[in-house]
Amino acid sequence: MRMDNDIEKILFTSEDIKTAVQKLGQKLTKDYQDKNPVVVGILRGAAPFMIDLVRAMDCYLEIDFIDVSSYGDATESSGAVTILKDIDSDVTGRHVLLVEDIVDTGRTLEKLLELFSGRGAASVKVCSLLDKPERRIANVTADYVGLSVPNEFVVGYGLDFRQQYRNLPYIGVLKPEIYQD
Ligand code: PRP
Repeated sequence: MRMDNDIEKILFTSEDIKTAVQKLGQKLTKDYQDKNPVVVGILRGAAPFMIDLVRAMDCYLEIDFIDVSSYGDATESSGAVTILKDIDSDVTGRHVLLVEDIVDTGRTLEKLLELFSGRGAASVKVCSLLDKPERRIANVTADYVGLSVPNEFVVGYGLDFRQQYRNLPYIGVLKPEIYQD
């Protein structure tokens, strides 16, 4: 791919990702078997993961999406989280599973956990493909994590730099010259 030239190194191949998603799917299938959860994908980064994850879950469920933005086009979280599009479902008394591509500072998750708990959900849990624990500021953890990443600028499989690279089938580290100019 032409975008490959912008990548310094690959952290997880598409096979690594597939294995991690299948593992999460099996665990979630067990945990949500009779719960008919509302699985909420957090746009835009979680979209590819969400689509693969729900197909790895063998149980009744509903899907919905919420669009929040914390980074804008910057590489660092600003701390401010804006809801751009809310879910359409009523989650009162429902089991909610939030699906993230990455938990970085944790600020987005903190805000979303607050929001969904306030809506009377029976339970609110989080499944994140990636975790970057070194960067955590907010005191939150995902209940289900696929893979842990070092403190580097990662793109691919949903993760972007200036809205690009989300369609890479793998997860890699961007060459510094790409984001430093
Ligand atoms: C990214 C990512 C998470 C959040 C994690 O979203 O998808 O939602 O940042 O960062 P945090 O733990 O520091 O809050 P972003 O706002 O960049 O939007 P996107 O999903 O459209 O890329």
